[in-house]
Amino acid sequence: MTEAQTVAVNKVVDAFTVSDDRLSKIVQQFVIEMEKGLDHQGATIAMIPSFVAGRCTGDEKGSFMALDLGGTNLRVCHVTLLGAGEHTIRQQKYIVSEELKTGPMRHLCDFIADCVDSFLTENGTSESHEVIQLGYTFSFPVLQTSINRGVLKQWTKGFNCSGAVGKDVTILLQDSFRRKNINVNIAAIVNDTVGTLMAYAYKHPETTMGVIMGTGFNASYYEDMSKVKKWTGNKDEEMVINMECGAFDCERRVLPMNVYDNKMDRESINVHQQLYEKMVAGMYLGEITRNAMLDLIDQQFLFNGESSNDLNKNWSFETAYMSTIEVDESDDLSDTGHILESVLSIPSTTLVDRQIVKRLCNAVGVRAARLASCHIAGVLTHTGKVGHDCIVAIDGSLFEFYPNFGNNMGDALAAVLGEQARSKVKFDLARDGSGLGAAIIAMIAAKK
Ligand code: BGC
Repeated sequence: MTEAQTVAVNKVVDAFTVSDDRLSKIVQQFVIEMEKGLDHQGATIAMIPSFVAGRCTGDEKGSFMALDLGGTNLRVCHVTLLGAGEHTIRQQKYIVSEELKTGPMRHLCDFIADCVDSFLTENGTSESHEVIQLGYTFSFPVLQTSINRGVLKQWTKGFNCSGAVGKDVTILLQDSFRRKNINVNIAAIVNDTVGTLMAYAYKHPETTMGVIMGTGFNASYYEDMSKVKKWTGNKDEEMVINMECGAFDCERRVLPMNVYDNKMDRESINVHQQLYEKMVAGMYLGEITRNAMLDLIDQQFLFNGESSNDLNKNWSFETAYMSTIEVDESDDLSDTGHILESVLSIPSTTLVDRQIVKRLCNAVGVRAARLASCHIAGVLTHTGKVGHDCIVAIDGSLFEFYPNFGNNMGDALAAVLGEQARSKVKFDLARDGSGLGAAIIAMIAAKK
């Protein structure tokens, strides 16, 4: 590597480096914003009461349906809760096309209803004359007014259907079921973080937070409702709050956004929104890294100054490539070479090129994990749980597959709260929890 190359690469890596001191400032600001969200409507972090009150015991029983919409696929599930923390689940995945994600909401709802219909037919559940109770995991910011009513605040994660923002999303889907004579009642609308928390708590009742780190990023936790000023219902209970923390710091007070983040943000569907999510979630990390690569190419420090048509396309550098590159320990970084040359059609790459790309991926990935720990530190601080045992149930491809993500989060947590406090926090993988969680919540709702 030439000296000029080293200087240029270090400069880019520095733009992604977040000091311990900065992490502490982010956590302080996060706690302030959380409290604003609990005090009044319309705050940056929405802090939405989920209407899921009380804890699971694991003894819940019964059969329910669940839907999960919000990432790459739609999942339709049939869940039987057996008690003693056990359950069985049958499920089917359906691909949601780009056209459906950005077309009229009515088309999306009709598609979902058709998937439910074919699932019921295939699984022989459609002959039943009893109404089937369903938990609808809809993983976008929904301002709930009851367990099965809520208005979509805005779209995130590349969805942008017309005729949905400001509308009650349960009514829209229930209407499709009614038009198609499908005997299903939406008993609950559920955020995926809330579903994940409930599903994990079914086996581990002491679980304190549910987090998603996948295509999108968000978290939920148990709150003492007497602390929620904006809440006009029963103040004596505990309720799960869907934080919608991906929206944190849209005012850009503390998040260390750099030029590569800004470029990605401008090209996204929801410009200037979800800035915290955009620095953490899987949908965006590849694009940020691509922007950093293009900068070094333009300065003639990477790939001999030549990009490719593929690499020039927005969103062409997937976050999954970063995981592969990060674990590539071969002498010639051959997997990295394969992605760059065979997948992205860069004519030829040197070992130095591959090493540079690997450093960029690492810088963006480590930053994401360090920033992702701030909201956990914030919740522990706000709830007075720093230093207490606590289980954080986490689902999502980034946490499951991105190399070292959990360890980097843990190190950042230790930097902000201290080693002792970090040792008390367990990050557990809660794979595909939201289907089970939605069924549990549908059961609670149907009982009421
Ligand atoms: C949505 C959240 C969701 C998260 C994870 C975000 O974009 O706003 O509601 O929980 O993604 O799926």
